[in-house]
Amino acid sequence: MPVIQDADNATSYVNLELFQPPTEHAALFSAALSNVVSKVDTLIPQFGLRNPRISIPGTRQYHFCIPDEWVASFWPGQLWLAHSVTGAEHFKNSARMRRPYFNTVLQHPEWHDHDLGFLFSLSCVADYKLTGDQTARSMALRAADFLAARWRQPLPFVMCWNPMRRDDTDFALRKTSTLNIDSMQAMALLLWAAQETGQASFSDIANLHLESCAKYLVRDDYSSYHCYEFDPRSGDPVVGYTHQGYSDESCWSRGQSWAIHGFAQSYLSTGNTSYRDTAAGMADYIADKLLDDGVCPWDYQLPDDQPVYRDTSAAAVTAAGLYALAQGFGPGEQSIKYTALADRMLFGLVTHHDITADNDAQGLLKEGAAFVGLGRADNMLPYGDYYYLEALMRAVGHTEFFW
Ligand code: GLY
Repeated sequence: MPVIQDADNATSYVNLELFQPPTEHAALFSAALSNVVSKVDTLIPQFGLRNPRISIPGTRQYHFCIPDEWVASFWPGQLWLAHSVTGAEHFKNSARMRRPYFNTVLQHPEWHDHDLGFLFSLSCVADYKLTGDQTARSMALRAADFLAARWRQPLPFVMCWNPMRRDDTDFALRKTSTLNIDSMQAMALLLWAAQETGQASFSDIANLHLESCAKYLVRDDYSSYHCYEFDPRSGDPVVGYTHQGYSDESCWSRGQSWAIHGFAQSYLSTGNTSYRDTAAGMADYIADKLLDDGVCPWDYQLPDDQPVYRDTSAAAVTAAGLYALAQGFGPGEQSIKYTALADRMLFGLVTHHDITADNDAQGLLKEGAAFVGLGRADNMLPYGDYYYLEALMRAVGHTEFFW
């Protein structure tokens, strides 16, 4: 396999020979992909320049983002994917019309946190990868600079969160020295920047962060903590805890999904097999914990007396990550095993939770759980929609994405 070496002779990027085992449901998933792309098309005039945030409770209509929202790129990401599937210019134009907003994000450093990864991978990196646009490249590299600058010694990771006015004092203090699992997806922006510039500092910081995620957030049984707190003076680990899961020692399913997808994708970018094997262990952990329809419960370790809300967004992220993982293993049993698990989950989403046929629905999937502790279950979620489209594309053989 060809390996690109960075200036310090450390591996920063590899081109692996990928293998895509055939999906069991090719016709069903192709038809679902076509329905989803048509649905995205019909939503363009409804959304205008707005980006969906979360469904209005009890409806299939979206609330839209105000400035400084972590979810602002998931609709542009769907538009870029639709452009990549169809080649149609209007998807590209509609996505690019959002560029001024992402410029505004760059001009507001006080808005910046690990979500720079989601925001810029699915807007500017997407634009650059699909069109070669140099302004998009510069904007994405600027975002990567801001993200890399959030690494502060002695903490072995990029600072994920900022304290906010609405946080209670304890949580505000804890947040600045907390590693969270959601940040797994942000490392793709740094790995892309390393590849693009040849600057090893981007991949060094990404690898430091990824290795800390594996060491502290992933437990011995391959379940995960949502968060891990560190001592800000010594950089020593203190304790794992949850923010959005059921309890500190439970396993929040969307957190697990961010890690499965993030480690699988990081393997595809770096060739580091420990990332692939961590993703595989985390996938094995969930395989016997899915609900009858193949979808994730919102937490994998709920006590019997708790209501079992589904999280279709976790299922969509996981399925997309499992296809990437299967690709990374190359031909053989592992690849077949993870494709079969991804197929099971995606089949459940397509046959039970896809709402594209509902003309009144502004989203693609029902029953996402945004934040159960705050009463936000049974939502349409733009990230569920984005990863559903990504998973369908991966299932039918697409391999080029924006991570
Ligand atoms: N904040 C990321 C998530 O809710 O998954």
